[in-house]
Amino acid sequence: MRREVDFLVIGSGIAGLSYALKVAKAGTVCVLTKSQAEETSTRYAQGGIAAVLYTPDSYEKHIQDTLIAGDLLNDEKIVRLTITESTERVKELIRWGAKFDKKKSGRYELGREGGHSENRVLHYKDQTGFEIERALLEQVKKHPNIEVLENHFTVDILTQHHLGIEVNRRTPGIECYGAYVLNPVTKNIDVFLARTTLICTGGAGNVYLVTTNPPVSTGDGISMVYRAKGAVENMEFIQFHPTALFHPSETPAFLITEALRGAGAILKTKDGKEFMHKYDDRKSLAPRDIVARAIDNEMKIRGEEHVCLDCHHIRKNELISGFPAIYAKCLSIGIDMTKEMIPVVPAAHYICGGIKVDEWGRTSIKNLYASGECASTGMHGANRLASNSLLEALVFSHRASLDAIRQKRKTRFCSDIPDWNAEGTVLNEEMVLITQTIHELQSIMSNYVGIVRSNLRLKRAFDRLEIIYRETEDLYKKSILFVRICEMRNMITVAYLIIKLAQRRKESRGLHYNIDYPKDIKEMLNHNHLHHGFDQNG
Ligand code: FAD
Ligand code: SIN
Repeated sequence: MRREVDFLVIGSGIAGLSYALKVAKAGTVCVLTKSQAEETSTRYAQGGIAAVLYTPDSYEKHIQDTLIAGDLLNDEKIVRLTITESTERVKELIRWGAKFDKKKSGRYELGREGGHSENRVLHYKDQTGFEIERALLEQVKKHPNIEVLENHFTVDILTQHHLGIEVNRRTPGIECYGAYVLNPVTKNIDVFLARTTLICTGGAGNVYLVTTNPPVSTGDGISMVYRAKGAVENMEFIQFHPTALFHPSETPAFLITEALRGAGAILKTKDGKEFMHKYDDRKSLAPRDIVARAIDNEMKIRGEEHVCLDCHHIRKNELISGFPAIYAKCLSIGIDMTKEMIPVVPAAHYICGGIKVDEWGRTSIKNLYASGECASTGMHGANRLASNSLLEALVFSHRASLDAIRQKRKTRFCSDIPDWNAEGTVLNEEMVLITQTIHELQSIMSNYVGIVRSNLRLKRAFDRLEIIYRETEDLYKKSILFVRICEMRNMITVAYLIIKLAQRRKESRGLHYNIDYPKDIKEMLNHNHLHHGFDQNG
């Protein structure tokens, strides 16, 4: 089957839906999503969305907090434009119907998270993402120009390569013509031709064993763009959220929002001792990279599987009304957080790098835009400040929509794109080859490319990955395509990029911590602990 659409949108999270609502005034829009429309990372966001609304907060304070958290690797121009546009974008989200908690005075109740010097996080209890996704989907579903196709997995974007023209990373003028998409009914690969395409496929947390990300986050968009010879950057900066609920049998790991620490919860070891003062003056509310490393270190020194979050000193009413989902989740596994400590561990949470874009969300490939977690805008630098990602997605989807509408008049459909060629492929009946490879990949990444890295661990990861890369490419070429095999291939590409860029970075910076490049005396002290911990736990 062949389709033509003015604006193709690959992803139905905050980035995709907010963009779709804007470009829909200029033409036909098709939103593709590989699962149900609401199944996105957006839906699970808890803490909220950072924006400057009231004094004493100011754009300048938010900008400085973002730069400090990012270890000054951010693009300051991008940070400034994103934050100065925050108020307008959040007001628009509210006009679309998203609700945020208010005080009795009618002012928004702003929460605080690690690395923020002011309370500036708009939230809807501990279910902010659920509320945002609900409001956006409601708007999208009633828009006559927008069609949402669920369970439509995008395999690859279309470029000159599909016209038989060789392209490489130095080829100027690579163009995107749309995408090859797996049809859930016919199981064939359909051709979606588009004037412009937005990739907004979210993160890649599933390359690790323990992640807060839903199963859809397998780095597909980043991998597609890399295969199409587009620019990808900063992949070494993987953010581990310090506090996911320790409940080993559960995937994804349930998040315990940083806003709980913002409300006063304190990190402690299992025996009830505080430890964050040893690592940072901001204690439990230091930026995430510091807190996650501190927890990792404590767990390794003590040989324990988790640390704890103590909130029993916070008023019971405040806990239950402010964090109802977390309260209910903890109770469901027998923990009353108003009386008992919550066991927590770090979990892969967010990828700061991704598809390189400019200030209009334009990738290095013509007519192809990227926004949301799969994009690398320069906003986050080496470590994202909490609650800045929903904001970044809104700002860049808005900017990309303006450019895509301008671009629409200048582009045509490329009807020469051939149908997908499935000749010579067979149905793979050995699912074990896939499940086992994915597990191997996740083990390699978690053991060697996690919170703390070393040159030796990175080399070992690279060598192991090479073997499964070759096996997977071989399997992929011979197989009739289905979702899991494509996701596996994409995850291997993303893992390759994380390792390669981690090897290339000869320093410890932000989220990329390599014990062969300690940063200062305090970190060298920790470095000794880390070696000790590693030996202890094998
Ligand atoms: P997503 O919302 O993840 O949407 C991705 C979409 O792409 C999905 O529709 C998926 O089906 C689709 N897709 C992927 N691959 C394909 C493919 N091959 N073909 C077709 N469709 C595809 N950030 C904050 O700022 N504040 C928070 O409080 C916060 N809390 C978080 C809590 C959790 C538990 C998690 C996991 C993340 C949190 N984040 C938070 C991060 C933030 O939620 C995400 O970065 C953001 O929602 C990403 O939005 P997105 O639109 O880029 O992608
Ligand atoms: C959280 O609620 O702790 C997550 C916030 C974020 O990832 O920005």
